[in-house]
Amino acid sequence: MKSIILAGGSGTRLYPVTQAINKHLLPVYNKPMIYYPLSLVMLIGIRDVLIVVNEKDKEAFCNLLRDGSHLGMRIEYAIQEEPRGLAEGLLIGEKFLDGDNVCYMLGDNVFFGHDLPKTMLEAKKDVEDRGGAVVFGYYVKDPERFGVVEFDDDGNVVDLKEKPKKPKSHYAVVGMYFYDSRAVEFAKGVKPSSRGELEITSINKSYLREGSLRVKLLGRGFAWFDAGTHDSFLEAGEFVETMEKKTGLMIGCIEEIAYRNGWIDREQLIKLAEPLSKTEYGKYLLRVAEEE
Ligand code: G1P
Repeated sequence: MKSIILAGGSGTRLYPVTQAINKHLLPVYNKPMIYYPLSLVMLIGIRDVLIVVNEKDKEAFCNLLRDGSHLGMRIEYAIQEEPRGLAEGLLIGEKFLDGDNVCYMLGDNVFFGHDLPKTMLEAKKDVEDRGGAVVFGYYVKDPERFGVVEFDDDGNVVDLKEKPKKPKSHYAVVGMYFYDSRAVEFAKGVKPSSRGELEITSINKSYLREGSLRVKLLGRGFAWFDAGTHDSFLEAGEFVETMEKKTGLMIGCIEEIAYRNGWIDREQLIKLAEPLSKTEYGKYLLRVAEEE
C-alpha cells in the first residue's frame, strides 16, 4: 500500500493566516501540520508517499521533507493546479499509485489515540485482503461541517452526505481513507458537486453502492481535529501541547518514527537532531537516540 497526502487547496477558511503561507506548513504546536498525517502513514509501515501540493508551495514542501531518503522513505510531490476538490488527488496520483491500494490522508487532519496505529493497520489489512474501502466515523457536535454517515435502525450505513444542512447523525467521516486500487476509476466518474468540487464523499458513495464500504467508528479513546478553521487549529495545537507535556513523548515526530521503524540508524537520527538542538524538538530526538 502507498499513501497520498493532500496538502493543496486554498485554505480560505484560515485567511488571512493562509493568504501567503500554505496551511499544511503552519505549526500545530511545535511542528508543521503535515507531520501529523505523515507520521501516521509511517506508523503503519508505508514508505511510499505522494504529497499533492499547489504549484507555488512545492518548493517549501521540498525544502522541508526533501525526497524522504533522510527518513528511509520515498516522498514525491505532485501539483494540483486548481483547488478542484479532494477526490482529484486520486486522479493526480494515478501514475504514482500504479495500481496499488492507497491510504488517502487529508493533510489538515490531526489524530491521536492509543490504539490508532493498530486500528489503521487493521483497516490496511482489511483492504489488502478483501478489497473495497475502510473509512472512519467520529462523533462530533457540528456534523454539518463534514461528510456525514447515515445509519438505518439496525446501525447499517445507508448513505453518506457531504456537509448536509440537516445531518441525520453526529458521525463525521474523518480525513483518513483506505481504498483498493479501484478508487482511481471511481474518481474518474465523479462530477463536481454544487460547491463545484470533486468530493471525497462521492468516492465513498461509489464503494457504498457496490456494498464494499466498511465504516468503523472511532470511540472515546480517540481525538480528532480537522485543523481547517481558526478554532479547530488552535484546539489541535493546545491538545498536542497538553499531551506532550503530560507524557513526555512527542506526537507526530517523523524522525523518531523513522528510527523506531528501523528505517534510519542511531547515527542518522543524531545527524537529523543536530541542526535542531536548540529546540525541545531536537533535544527530544537526542534523548530518543540515547535510549537503550
Ligand atoms: C473534507 C471532506 C469531508 C470530511 C472532512 C474531514 O471537508 O469533504 O467529507 O468530513 O474533510 O476533515 P473539507 O475540508 O473539504 O471541508
